[in-house]
Amino acid sequence: MQPAVVAHRGASAHRAEHTLAAYALALDQGADGLECDVRLSRDGHLVCVHDRTVDRTSNGRGVVSTLTLAELSELDYAGWHGGLPDNADELITTRNSHNEIGVLTLDELLGLVVERPGKKLFIETKHPVRYGALVEAKLVAMLHRFGLATPKSKEDSQVLMMSFSVRAVRRVRQHAPGLPTVELLHDFSPTTRDGALSSGADYTGPSIRMLRNDPGYVARAAAHGHPTYCWTVDKPEDVELCRRLGVRYVATNRPAATRETLAAG
Ligand code: G3P
Ligand code: CA
Repeated sequence: MQPAVVAHRGASAHRAEHTLAAYALALDQGADGLECDVRLSRDGHLVCVHDRTVDRTSNGRGVVSTLTLAELSELDYAGWHGGLPDNADELITTRNSHNEIGVLTLDELLGLVVERPGKKLFIETKHPVRYGALVEAKLVAMLHRFGLATPKSKEDSQVLMMSFSVRAVRRVRQHAPGLPTVELLHDFSPTTRDGALSSGADYTGPSIRMLRNDPGYVARAAAHGHPTYCWTVDKPEDVELCRRLGVRYVATNRPAATRETLAAG
């Protein structure tokens, strides 16, 4: 089976990450799923921002958890990035939390995804964060509101929760046992890793660097019942490696090119 293609922060090589424009382009390019990072604003909203601060990805400054949604919504999240949509000027002059370049809330992104039942959303909670366990509690409550917290089966689930934090994965498993989870793994392991996961997650989430160094890991994880989600897979040779190893999901900043590589193989 070919790996399914997950757009990492949207089609983020071509549009500013975590903007609706990036996710809309990823869907146009035929991505099977979308990936996003979530953090809590000061007033308790889940927003899709990767870094602890907005400094890199907006025209503002500050720590996400110290800013309210209204303050976050004042900022432009696309101007810093070269790849603007054709109608960028119009979008910038009309910016607000609902347009294509403003801060994206998880609520808005879930709204986009539920309208497309065949597409999956991989939600990564970032840790450590100021509000700790509240992020997972809010996430699960929101998924309940969308009817996505209790899927018929983990295979059918439209949403998967991911984290590098073992404790965060455990919290989600406790709050929403039917929701599939991914334990993300950093680039290098001190010794060759066993395929078992201490969080009890369903999927394992190694980086592509880890698989380049240790391609046997995918089979070891599979032996423990964990299919692999690999990030971030942008080069054709890495896409090929993932296909050869039987990786289930590849997260990429370039969904169109990744699909082309898979189609050509
Ligand atoms: O998809 C997992 C990957 O996104 C983890 O790394 O830093 O890009 O969130 P990061
Ligand atoms: Ca991420």
